[in-house]
Order: sequence, then C-alpha cells, then structure tokens
Amino acid sequence: MPKILGISGSVRKGATEYAVRQALKETEKYPGVETVYWSMRGKKVGYCVHCDACIRNKSMCIIQDDLQELEKLVLEADGFIIGSPVYDMNITAQLAAVFNRLRPMYLVYPGHLQNKVGAAISTGGTRHGGQEMTNLAIINYYLMHEMLVSGGLGGCYNGGTLWTKDGKAQGAQDDEVGMDTIRQLGNGVAEAVMVITHGRDQWLEMKQELNLSDDDRSPLRDH
Ligand SMILES: Cc1cc2nc3c(=O)[nH]c(=O)nc-3n(C[C@H](O)[C@H](O)[C@H](O)COP(=O)(O)O)c2cc1C
Repeated sequence: MPKILGISGSVRKGATEYAVRQALKETEKYPGVETVYWSMRGKKVGYCVHCDACIRNKSMCIIQDDLQELEKLVLEADGFIIGSPVYDMNITAQLAAVFNRLRPMYLVYPGHLQNKVGAAISTGGTRHGGQEMTNLAIINYYLMHEMLVSGGLGGCYNGGTLWTKDGKAQGAQDDEVGMDTIRQLGNGVAEAVMVITHGRDQWLEMKQELNLSDDDRSPLRDH
C-alpha cells in the first residue's frame, strides 16, 4: 500500500493545512493509496544546536520532543507533500527546524529516501510574495535526500502556490487558480508514487540478476 505523508509547516489552522489536506484527498483517488497528515500546529520541535551527536553516534537527533513521532511517519512514507506558509519569502522557522533536525536521516537510514517522491506547496498572503522561493526551499530538501520531485501535472511548475490574502482556509478556497495547482499537485504526486511503487521491486530484481551493487556509492554521502 503506497503511503503519502502530508506535512503542514504552519502553526495554525489556516490556508496551509487546508491546501495540504486537499492535495492528500486528491491522491486518495488512486488505488491503494493511504494518506497521513502531520502538522506543526501545537507541536514542540526545538532547533538544531549543532551538537553533532547525530554525526558522532550515527543516530537521529538526541533532543526528545515531538520530532520523534514525525520520524516514524517519514520512514513509512513513499510520497511527501510538504506545505509551508511563506514567511519573509521563505519557509517557516518551524519547518526549517524540522528539516534541520531530520538531517541525520541519510546517516542512520542511508538510501532509505532515495527515489521517493516529494512535492511542495506554499501559501502566501501576497500574490507574488515568494511562493516559488518557498517551494524551492522544500524541493532542495528533497534533493538533499536523493528524492525525486514532482511539481504536479500541467501548469504547476514548481508546485502548489496559493495567494491567500491572509484569509486562512477561506482565503485558500477563494484562490481558484491556486487551488487548481493543489489538485494537479496531488495527482502528479500520486502518479509518480504509483510508478515508483510498482517499478521499485522490478528494478531491484533486475539489479540482482545483473549483479549490480551499491558498493560504488559516492563517499560524499558521508559529508
Ligand atoms: C512572519 C510572517 C511573514 C510573512 N511573510 C510573507 C511573505 O514574505 N510573503 C507573503 O506572501 N506572505 C507572507 N506572510 C503571510 C502568510 O504567508 C499567509 O497569510 C499564509 O497564507 C499563512 O498561512 P496559514 O494560514 O497556513 O498560516 C507572512 C506572515 C507572517 C506571520
């Protein structure tokens, strides 16, 4: 059963929560797709303090808070839809903290996120308020973790973008063109997740037959 995890980087019940949930709803039309939603709202996730304990111990972050529940969901997911409100033309500090703290994923679970699919949604109060920049910050995170990116189907470019006029969920709903990018994004992610889910096993079998190993993986992964 392919699983798609939706994450909202907003600290309130507003436009981003609405948009991520709508995108997830779209993916649920695909056979067997299960969705899970996780929000920053009401969560306590501290900042990375660069103690390097994760690097020394090859462990996930040692700070105990609400991040651990997200770690479990991340490990189970085949696809990701991460949304953020635009804060000063970027993702929220809260979502940045999540990204920073999940950094050791590559050390503790090498290759686990490789070729999984990620997509980005941003909601801004202003029409051209930095939505594409915000999506790029999320996309860069996916790229760092060797994931594949879906911008959504036709017309989305780098993801879902909403102009909310600071109107929370109603503001999102009122942006008809923006909501279309959210639906198209849901379909694009679901399509890609179906492809990787059904193609992965076939490729692993083929790889074994051809005796291709992962031994030559770049040492850069350890940096
Ligand atoms: C600190 C802060 C900075 C913001 N910066 C921007 C910005 O640079 N561009 C923009 O379009 N909207 C900006 N906004 C407005 C929010 O992005 C917008 O209201 C968004 O839809 C809120 O999402 P939410 O309802 O999910 O919390 C900012 C809001 C806050 C609180």
